Amino acid sequence: MFKTPDYISNLKPYVPGKSIEELEREFGLTEIHKLASNENPLGHSPLANESMMKMINEINRYPDVGAVKLREKISEKFGIPFKNIAVGSGSEGIMANLLRCYLCEEDEMITSEATFIGFQVLARGRANKTHYVPMSKKTYKFDLNGILDRINTNTKMIYLCNPNNPTGTIITKKEFDEFHKQVPQGVMIILDEAYFEYADIHDEYPNSLFYRYDNVVTFRTFSKIYGIAGLRIGYAMGQEDIVTTLMKSKLPFEPNTLAQAAALGALDDDAFLNKSIELNNHGYEYFKRELAGLEIKGSLKLIPSYANFIMLDLFSEEKVNTVNETLLSRGVIIRPLKPFGLANCIRVTMGLMNENEAFIREFKKLL
Ligand SMILES: Cc1ncc(COP(=O)(O)O)c(C=O)c1O
Repeated sequence: MFKTPDYISNLKPYVPGKSIEELEREFGLTEIHKLASNENPLGHSPLANESMMKMINEINRYPDVGAVKLREKISEKFGIPFKNIAVGSGSEGIMANLLRCYLCEEDEMITSEATFIGFQVLARGRANKTHYVPMSKKTYKFDLNGILDRINTNTKMIYLCNPNNPTGTIITKKEFDEFHKQVPQGVMIILDEAYFEYADIHDEYPNSLFYRYDNVVTFRTFSKIYGIAGLRIGYAMGQEDIVTTLMKSKLPFEPNTLAQAAALGALDDDAFLNKSIELNNHGYEYFKRELAGLEIKGSLKLIPSYANFIMLDLFSEEKVNTVNETLLSRGVIIRPLKPFGLANCIRVTMGLMNENEAFIREFKKLL
């Protein structure tokens, strides 16, 4: 009855992986391991919890519009001026707002194929043209030269995900430096660092905060290592006028009171952060060890990961479907990557050790 633009009518709803409840219902299982959404298997920090619970009786009041305390804490923790920090309902919420604020009629965006689906959904929700540059099928890394080749006079934004979801690969310091030099100053680079805390232990990973380039906006989240995905809170760092624009155009009362409080507590808990990184490293070493034999036999390829998940190329969509369906029936939820454009691949989040073991046990039976 009411006409919507074609690019909105053509949107397909986001299809998340199966939930634990769905699997319980479908298969009558009691033990389920969800290794599908790159969540923190340790839950969230006790300090985040404490800080949130202190605010629980304040939820009749509206949140702090400017999220001042939280932005001050982020500023202190990362040594970035307050005026360069924006917050919002998840990093995706801030990204959606950035696109709304900056994309004019003729503007175009460039990104890679096989990158974060959330960005692809946001891009498809705009009338603007987005170029998807094929990813190197050998390395599963962004083809930065291919991206540079697509830049034209209408290019307004480039989206890079580092480490990339779902491949787990990174753009190294050297690669980013070379790339940045060739991107015109008038082109904004969106640098999505949702998994930065996991990658930052590697010397070759470029922590974008050291760059302070005027045309780079960095996005980070409390949904991954901080374990509060359900509260919806993220932050972005960029030059002052971009941050001012983001803060004045966001929904006034995002992020919500409990999210702001939990994030404040989470930032204080280095012990929880370190424990999460340690568990992740253990999980990764375990996966590498256990999968090496299958890799030698040519049954799969494990793509080196810098995040809290691994990507496995199983070389056939049929094999992916069989693996996925059988694992589901045995209580292990993983992510088949057809929606990301990688029909032959699966993504598995590093979980608790018993969850990793459950995946390996069932997966090995299958292969
Ligand atoms: C690369 C990337 N960016 C952003 C997000 C979402 O972050 P948020 O929960 O803060 O919106 C995800 C979640 O899967 C992600 O993988």
